[in-house]
Amino acid sequence: MNLFMFAAAAWVFNGTLFADSPVAWQLGFQDSATPIMEGIVNLHHDITFFLALILTMVTWMLYRTLYFFNETKNPIPSKNNHGTLIEIIWTILPSLVLLLIAIPSFALLYAMDEVIDPALTVKAIGHQWYWTYEYSDYNTSDTDSLVFDSYMVPEDELTQGQLRLLEVDNRVLVPANTHVRFITTSADVLHSWAVPSLGVKMDACPGRLNQSDVFIKREGVYYGQCSEICGVNHAFMPIVIQAVSLDEYVSWVSNKIEMERA
Ligand code: CUA
Repeated sequence: MNLFMFAAAAWVFNGTLFADSPVAWQLGFQDSATPIMEGIVNLHHDITFFLALILTMVTWMLYRTLYFFNETKNPIPSKNNHGTLIEIIWTILPSLVLLLIAIPSFALLYAMDEVIDPALTVKAIGHQWYWTYEYSDYNTSDTDSLVFDSYMVPEDELTQGQLRLLEVDNRVLVPANTHVRFITTSADVLHSWAVPSLGVKMDACPGRLNQSDVFIKREGVYYGQCSEICGVNHAFMPIVIQAVSLDEYVSWVSNKIEMERA
């Protein structure tokens, strides 16, 4: 029933209802909110096309071999053990397929690596087992940046509408339609900062900074989880990114600074 209602709602609100968190029985990706995630989805579809082609071809060849060349149908085996033409074909063809996959794949890889003039930098620091966020562009005192911790909301404290194992006490707000640079690092062990709808899965390594450019195209709440086994509470350090309008972001960040100063 829930699934039916979701499908009905998806049909009614077609184009305005997005899945930025996992849904029950989900098979595909969560909806994309950044150009990079759109690229990842497209690349996946491209590769799936080749997958279908190769699967069909191999299954067909296997069927032909088993059907026509078994002991009863073909009692005298062929003495052939070479075929130059067929060997050239089955070497060149797969390499062409690999080339057709490699070109869009490398284009995407280099696009992901590019960080162009970000308007804002957010540093996500992994801890066992929560995330700390540092807005290095703002100061709360002469020496400190705006920093806060983000813990999962435990199951017995959830309110109506909050997602189990995904909601946090302190969400990360960023403006939509803005180039935001996310930097990840860790204070203890390896973690991984991953938000599917944003197309980000970045390792958080102690003593190292990894960066990624995120341009969120629409306002919304995006859920993610730590994606590197980091200890017993690995499953309980989710990530929540909320993309808002610039006005809303400015008032949120000034409130946050005032709170930290007090
Ligand atoms: Cu942190 Cu897994």
